[in-house]
Amino acid sequence: MAAAVSKQRYAGIPSNYIFILYIRAIKRPKNQFGILAEASTVLMEITIKRPDDWHVHLRDGIMLAAVLPHTARQFARAVIMPNLTPPITTADMAADYRWRILQILPDEVAERGFQPLMTCYLTDETKPADVEQGYLDGVFTAVKLYPANATTNSALGVTDIAGRAMVFEIMQELGMPLLMHGEVTDPDIDIFDREAVFIERVLAPLRLDFPDLKIVLEHATTKDAIDFVRSNRENTAATITAHHLFINRTDIFEGGINPHRYCLPIAKRENHRQALRQAVASGDACFFLGTDTAPHTMGTKETACGCAGIFTAPVALELYAQVFDEEGALDKMEAFTSLNGPAFYGLEPNETTVTLIKESWTAPDRIGIDDGQSVLSFMAGESLDWQLKE
Ligand code: NCD
Ligand code: ZN
Repeated sequence: MAAAVSKQRYAGIPSNYIFILYIRAIKRPKNQFGILAEASTVLMEITIKRPDDWHVHLRDGIMLAAVLPHTARQFARAVIMPNLTPPITTADMAADYRWRILQILPDEVAERGFQPLMTCYLTDETKPADVEQGYLDGVFTAVKLYPANATTNSALGVTDIAGRAMVFEIMQELGMPLLMHGEVTDPDIDIFDREAVFIERVLAPLRLDFPDLKIVLEHATTKDAIDFVRSNRENTAATITAHHLFINRTDIFEGGINPHRYCLPIAKRENHRQALRQAVASGDACFFLGTDTAPHTMGTKETACGCAGIFTAPVALELYAQVFDEEGALDKMEAFTSLNGPAFYGLEPNETTVTLIKESWTAPDRIGIDDGQSVLSFMAGESLDWQLKE
């Protein structure tokens, strides 16, 4: 069927946001009133600088091979989390890990380029000189702080954060970002309060002690986090995941317990989810994209004591687009996905672009791993509004 296509620009909408009006004249016999039937479809598309993902778990080995194409399909750069077993604690380990990632990139992505940005897993033993050397050698982009036992593979994390002052000192001098898993581990603190208490007990004092240290509060989940980052925006930023924009704590228990909606920090009350959506939709420079896509096999999720982590890589960018659309803020999307992150890290935005179209599709279900196991994608089998034009 022939379709007449006209591209129209609408006042007040930047030139990269294009509404394409498809007008289809459908030839039908005249009805009893002698009127010709006509139908039209409005299709929307946006083109933005290619985004980066500032918080990704790629794992290693066959899991890495299975999940990497999904992140590399969408993003130009990704900050790679170091919580492997054993964790990436030295520049040599990080360089080897980076090589393993680059080596198995799909050909079409390798041609376009995908850059893994490596992080150093901070422990009680980390030496400031090693962090400095790794950064100056171009291996480490940032340091990741896990309070010991706060989350998946964090047993070797930091037990005494104040005791790491010498490392923070050198990072402050270098302009090297400190990425924080912002939750206290005190078992007496309710799991839903752990981020807010971390901000009060750990982040706020650290902010005062190291005023020039670049700090990213990773995967922010509370209004408390949004407010803190906003009022310390000069050197403080937060990444916000796609899943925390979609689910609140009630959704974890919708119709029964949903292990695939369990992650850390755990999803909070609805008012917090709304605060996150407002932060994202503001386009403010202190908030940027970090999916925290965290694959675990079905077997380790659907068990008596399931792992924390939500695998969003196959649908991440599409979900963010849906949020911006729903919030009436598509014009702010590029800032959040593609500009604010590089600016905070002191990098240039990507030169290439991606285009998303508003056309519904069904999110993939399971992603197979080479050993026959699989990982379930967030939103598996559900209809999504936006898709990335390949
Ligand atoms: C992450 C993982 O599985 O590595 N899990 C998660 O729930 N987000 C670790 C982390 O970022 O906390
Ligand atoms: Zn993470």
